[in-house]
Amino acid sequence: MEGQLYAPLVTLDGGEVVVQLGADHPGVGDPDYRARRNSIASLALGWTEGEPMPVARYSEDEHEIWRVVSLELERKHERFACRAAREGRALIDLPSDHIPQLTDVTAALAPLTGFTYLPAAGLVALREFYGALADRRFWSTQYIRHHSVPLYTPEPDIVHEVIGHAVTLAEPTFAELYVAAGRAARRVESLESLEFVSKVFWFSLEFGVVHEDDGPKAYGAGLLSSYGEIEEFVHADLRPLDIARMGVQTYDITHYQPVLFAAESWQQVRDDVGGFFEAANDESIARLRHDSRVGA
Ligand SMILES: [Fe+2]
Repeated sequence: MEGQLYAPLVTLDGGEVVVQLGADHPGVGDPDYRARRNSIASLALGWTEGEPMPVARYSEDEHEIWRVVSLELERKHERFACRAAREGRALIDLPSDHIPQLTDVTAALAPLTGFTYLPAAGLVALREFYGALADRRFWSTQYIRHHSVPLYTPEPDIVHEVIGHAVTLAEPTFAELYVAAGRAARRVESLESLEFVSKVFWFSLEFGVVHEDDGPKAYGAGLLSSYGEIEEFVHADLRPLDIARMGVQTYDITHYQPVLFAAESWQQVRDDVGGFFEAANDESIARLRHDSRVGA
């Protein structure tokens, strides 16, 4: 997941990496957890392109969190995930009894859509995060949420990256949307346009909803990986998919999203969201921004 929701990192004079958890983070008062977070962030910071992926040695407690969350989300996906996401889930061979390493995720995606997972210590700059998607590369965090609240995380963790994103990246029509988003991010020049692309991504591949025969379903990774929000989104203000609006809609990452955009069909997601990403440039986005003001 992109954005401002990552805990900042600082590197001390001696080279020690410190993840600065917020005061209300469930793990903030747990020295063992904080040490884990620091060591996992160091792994990613110490990695350079071309080297083998860093392996995070997860504890038994951490694997147990994965077992709990993946079982609960599997049940929820049966009811609330869109068809394409359920197909992705059926295609990808992911463990339910232990946290997969990034190399395992890459190996599982390779024969399906060719995506590679790369280690991110925390926030990755917008243009780098999205641009990498054009090359079928996905920057992923490796840490897992705090064990005191296995079904909640204030930040994107390995559960989000894998059970939200990898499951969808496994399905070819989803993968094409991600790649197209990456191309859009590379094509646009102004920061304003890049932020518009990022917001369309947020309201589609992170928090998108699609109507299916038996009701609205989640297709965004943020919904698919959230134990609570995957059920609650049906109570959000579900608006028709509208690229001009999506690109300027504000959001607050600390609460369930009050406004979401729901497509009439998966085909509409492919046509409208995919079509936007395929063709977006600074001029077309300027027109969409103008339309969003005129229609307001
Ligand atoms: Fe995400």
